[in-house]
Formats: sequence, structure tokens, C-alpha cells
Amino acid sequence: MALIPMRTLLDHAAENEYGVAAFNVNNMEQIQAIMMAANETESPVIVQASRGARSYSDDNYLRHLMVAAAELNPHIPMAMHQDHGNSPATCISAMDMDFTSVMMDGSLEEDGKTPASWDYNVRVTREVVEAAHARGVTVEAELGCLGGIEDGQGAGLSEEEAQDHLTDPDEAGRFVEETGCDALAVAIGTSHGAYKFKKKPTGKVLRMEVIREIHSRMPNCHMVMHGSSSVPKELVDIINEYGGSIPETYGVPVEDIQEGIRHGVRKVNVDTDNRLAITGAIRKAFAEDGAEFDPRYYLKPARVAMAEVCKARMISFGQAGNAAGVEMKTLEDLKSYYAMA
Ligand code: G3H
Ligand code: 13P
Ligand code: ZN
Repeated sequence: MALIPMRTLLDHAAENEYGVAAFNVNNMEQIQAIMMAANETESPVIVQASRGARSYSDDNYLRHLMVAAAELNPHIPMAMHQDHGNSPATCISAMDMDFTSVMMDGSLEEDGKTPASWDYNVRVTREVVEAAHARGVTVEAELGCLGGIEDGQGAGLSEEEAQDHLTDPDEAGRFVEETGCDALAVAIGTSHGAYKFKKKPTGKVLRMEVIREIHSRMPNCHMVMHGSSSVPKELVDIINEYGGSIPETYGVPVEDIQEGIRHGVRKVNVDTDNRLAITGAIRKAFAEDGAEFDPRYYLKPARVAMAEVCKARMISFGQAGNAAGVEMKTLEDLKSYYAMA
């Protein structure tokens, strides 16, 4: 079994100048798609579950599926991560279920909607860091707020409003120092979901200079990009060709993510692109044979379509080929590391 602390993977990515895609999962097919792509590209992986995913799957189904993926793929280093934990209690419940990494998203209050104060964010993040590091578990924190709202999570900021909640590079250093977090999620004008930008984004709305500035001040800080789906037109077109109605929309171009990776981004969150790929494949399968009703008939192509997206991102972000190079450290190893730090 190769469940490793996420910190080990991010450190390896920094040393070797690549980024790691963190894919969201809710069910068996999505987990299998990631592992298919990881095997084909020899990539280490971050598999992450939101609060919504944990509740959809009654927690334990998803936990066992993720652990099964690690057991079946002992040669693939895999971090199991809680995405957007809304409180210390959520993060601790994830640690109790063997997650090797948690995100304490104190940029929003516990309701997952209201932008939080600096003091609140530092307090809850620090609390989670103390509990997590005592177990060797990695902590991702967030400063600044993303746009949009997904499944109840998010401040609901518009593309324009998100510009007022970007991460302030002047505050980032103090935040990392005061919280002791392992990785910092930054707000650079993106949002969760498919509707990020009304036009192909320019530097006026996708503020890559925030990342460059933080990296120049803190070259050792592992940054995380959320809302990093590229929303490829080809995937939207398949959905619309087979009865969908997704309006014109733009995501984060892969070239901008690659630029972020050159400036300290080590974890790149992608969910929407996989959702689009799955939905398109299922719509196509339904349209092509209206008499079929075996779920395997449409879930197999859906799984392949998601694996193709994962593979493409693993290659573009540079994590492909790095599985064998990552040390299979344990939570116990990291526990000693934090105790000595
Ligand atoms: O945080 C956003 C991810 O896309 C997860 O979304 O909360 O609908 O599972 P979700
Ligand atoms: P997307 O909606 O752009 O895929 O972002 C996912 C994400 O940031 C999960 O935390
Ligand atoms: Zn996110």
C-alpha cells in the first residue's frame, strides 16, 4: 500500500519542478479513472474528497474505495486529501479515516460561504496544523477567496467580485509563518465550476502575478491553485451535441497553470473537467443506443473519458514519470519530521 503524506509528494514536486493534479472523487469509477491514468503515465497522485463527496458516499464507501486504490497500486504514491474542510472537526474526522492530508479552508467561515477574518483564519488553521502534524498529516490552508459557489461551498462571488478577494502577497508570508501550514491555496481570480470567465481570460482577470510575487518572496512555499479546470470546448461540445445546454464559457488555460508551476504551484485542483468528460460520454452512450440499460454500458466510456482528461493533465503538469522517484514515506516519518522542525 502506498498511501503517503501529501507533504512528501509536494516536496518531491518542488525539488523536481513539477505540479501534481489533485482530482476530486465521489465514486468508484472516478477513482479507477485516476489510477488508470496514473499507471499509464507512471504518475504519483492526489485523490481528494470534498465534504459533499464524503456525505454522498456515506464516508465509509469512499474511504474504502480510496484505500482499495492504494492497495491495488502499491507502486503509485498516493495522497488521500480532504478538500475544503470547513472546520477543525471536519479535518479531524478525515484524519480519523486515514486521510494523509487535509485542507482547512479558513478563508470562509464554518458555513462555507461567509468570507472570514484574518484572525479566524489563522486561529482555525493553526488549530488544525497542531492536530495534524502530531499525526504526520499534511495541511493545506487558503488565504483570499475564490469566486463562485459549488454544492453550497463558496462565497458566491462573481468573476468581477473575486478580484476584490485575491491573496495579498504582502500577507502571505505572515500567514504561512503564523499558521505553520504545508501548502497555501491562493486566490487569483478563478472560481469553482464551469463558469469561470465569460471570455478567454487575460492577465486582467487571471492574476498570475500574485503567484509570481509570492514565489519571489517565498521560493519554498508550496502553492495550490483551486478552480483550475480548463473547461475544454471539445468536452462542452460533446455534451451540447447530445442534448446538453452549456453556454459559452472559459476556464484556466493549461499554459497559465504551467506558468504557475514554474513559479511555485505544486498542487492543481481539477474537478469540473472530469465532470464534463463523464457527462459527455454518458450522454453520447445514451444517444447511441436507446435500448441499453446496463449501467456498465455507459459507465465504462465515462471512466475512459475521465482517464483521458487525467492523463492529459498529468503529462502537462509534469507529474508523469515521477511515481518511482517519490519516497514512500509514512505518517510516522512525517511525525518525526514535524517534531524536529
Ligand atoms: O470544491 C470544489 C470541488 O469541485 C468539489 O465540489 O463540493 O460539489 O463536491 P463538490
Ligand atoms: P474546478 O471546478 O475548476 O475543477 O476546481 C476544483 C477545485 O478547486 C476543487 O477544490
Ligand atoms: Zn477548491
